[in-house]
Amino acid sequence: MTTKAEELAGLIRDRAGAAPVALGLVLGSGLGHLAEEVDGVAIDYADLPGFPHAGVSGHNPKLVIGELEGVRVAVFGGRAHYYESGRGDAMRLPLEVLKALGAGALIVTNAAGSMRADIPPGDLMLLRDHINFSGLNPLIGEPTDARFVPMKDAYDPEMRASLTAAAEAEGIALRHGVYAWYSGPSFETPAEIRAIRTLGGDAVGMSTVPEVILARFLGLRVAAISTVTNMAAGLSDEAISHEHTKAMAPLGAAKLERIVRRYLRGLVG
Ligand code: HPA
Repeated sequence: MTTKAEELAGLIRDRAGAAPVALGLVLGSGLGHLAEEVDGVAIDYADLPGFPHAGVSGHNPKLVIGELEGVRVAVFGGRAHYYESGRGDAMRLPLEVLKALGAGALIVTNAAGSMRADIPPGDLMLLRDHINFSGLNPLIGEPTDARFVPMKDAYDPEMRASLTAAAEAEGIALRHGVYAWYSGPSFETPAEIRAIRTLGGDAVGMSTVPEVILARFLGLRVAAISTVTNMAAGLSDEAISHEHTKAMAPLGAAKLERIVRRYLRGLVG
């Protein structure tokens, strides 16, 4: 762990209390409501030196530490995307801080375009694997042998089973699929979408994969859920835009919240 992460964890403990955090949550575009549900302390990223700017509209760059369903969580209301800075490791420090706060697990959420007719907008998809279509890696430049992170079962099978059970208990359809990371910020072309689909992708988005790689590097268990906001480029007549993403994300967000809450109750009970 870097000294910087330890220092920031100390600063956060001073403000939010010393009890260790069990789990981190990264909230995707338009999925910020959950942060408001946490009974705890919100700290602006701007007050955490070295935290990314995370300035994409639809995100709320605050770290909220507190209780949700009896579990001590750290909720990242904003994420830094590769396309904002050209840095694939933009979320490294926040995730190191999460680890330094004691967390053993992370749930990442995102908004995504679907490439499957049976996963329409408004549906949720639990990631069972990913394809790094960008060719980038957040661990480029990491000098230690720890950089050779195995990625089989990167999406923790036990967490996936528990989240699946939580969705079933809530009566919510949770699809399973493969997420393809495309760097953005431009959306994909229809030809790219056909290519990604042919390669085995089920949903496509501009985030998550670097965070999952970093989290595995740090030894955190990981799960990730996409809220489908649109059919990917060329698969429907609907125009794709960030406005549309933000407008559609709340459709899935309410379901996502119920699943996460049920999952957390399962950790306690
Ligand atoms: N492509 C990439 N990212 C996205 C999309 C998409 O279609 N929808 C929401 N985020």
